[in-house]
Amino acid sequence: MDKLKLGVIGCGGMEKVHESGLSELDNVKVVATADIIKERADRAAEIYGAEYAYTDFRDMLDKVDACLLVVPHHLHYGIGRECLEAGKHVLMEKPFCNTEEQCLELAHIAQSKGLTLMTAYCMRFNPMVLKLKEMLDSGEYGPCFQMSIWTEQLTRYPIDHWASLAATIGGGQLFSHGCHYIDLLLWFMGNPVKGTHTGTNFGTPWMEKEGTSNVSILFENGAIGYHFGTWGAHGSRLKYSIHAHCTGGMLEAALSEGKLYRHLPGKAPEVVFEYRMGKHTQYEVGHFADCIANGTKPITGVPESLQGLRVIWRLYNAEENDFVADLSGLGLTEPWDFVSSDPGDRRGF
Ligand SMILES: NC(=O)c1ccc[n+]([C@@H]2O[C@H](COP(=O)([O-])OP(=O)(O)OC[C@H]3O[C@@H](n4cnc5c(N)ncnc54)[C@H](O)[C@@H]3O)[C@@H](O)[C@H]2O)c1
Repeated sequence: MDKLKLGVIGCGGMEKVHESGLSELDNVKVVATADIIKERADRAAEIYGAEYAYTDFRDMLDKVDACLLVVPHHLHYGIGRECLEAGKHVLMEKPFCNTEEQCLELAHIAQSKGLTLMTAYCMRFNPMVLKLKEMLDSGEYGPCFQMSIWTEQLTRYPIDHWASLAATIGGGQLFSHGCHYIDLLLWFMGNPVKGTHTGTNFGTPWMEKEGTSNVSILFENGAIGYHFGTWGAHGSRLKYSIHAHCTGGMLEAALSEGKLYRHLPGKAPEVVFEYRMGKHTQYEVGHFADCIANGTKPITGVPESLQGLRVIWRLYNAEENDFVADLSGLGLTEPWDFVSSDPGDRRGF
């Protein structure tokens, strides 16, 4: 089997996480790296055994089949567009792009050129998340009426870092990190109807927009999804956790602990699944390579990536204007290729 020749663009914090995942794949070979800081590109190239290391990503485009973009959010669109226009498949670190217009433009270039464009939503490939989905879908525990997702961590960037500033990160904690969990809520719970977001930078003054988010979403079947995420936690027992309250029991994915518990009425909690902790990025990159090889659609492609961000943009807009967000039409399987009439969807920071 021919290996996918991959170029890695951006060799900062998250790229280091990709290194262990990429080394596990036998259908992908990193042949080039790029970072505006030469030492970073060189270091990563050495780890991968890549032949080329550049400070300008454009120099790699004639050497690769596909690019993995691990760059600041405000660069996703511009670099993504140049890669797609050069005929390269793109695996974009989350979130897709900072505005709806940018997402749609990249989606249409990829469509017209028959290229794979996918967002690297690693939580969708997490073995425990997949097990939770399988258990919920089995129906054994009855329908889920409330899913709560917590992410409690201390993430502190310098005040002028791209990830602190609304214009470059594209919002705040919810857009940057919460996008994983809004995507999960939509995937688990179905079509959203309405919702609210309350965010604050109290406790995370390094963030221009919110560093702490509370989201509630009502779904079509009457169930509720809740997400609490903070970058200001100085301690946590929940860390990263999902609680799925079903009519016949509760399933608890203690993601940071690596254990999935089943709580049944009258019985002690029971561990039903364990896994090795980590981001497991090899699964998303492996899936990306398989989609290219087989001509299949990625499970976190354009529709999934864009609809979740539209939910976040509408929540932000409703929060600023003191109303409950109308989230109808934003399910993952609902039509995505439209320019929204909702001003929330057109926003940028
Ligand atoms: N999936 C996850 O769980 C997860 C976790 C953290 C970060 N991320 C994502 O990874 C991406 C990068 O985040 P990070 O934390 O690694 O940021 P970072 O600032 O640590 O690294 C970004 C790198 O991009 C480089 N860069 C900047 N401009 C460039 C250009 N024009 N060409 C090439 N390289 C350039 C920088 O020099 C830096 O090394 C973001 O999309 C972020 O959301 C994902």
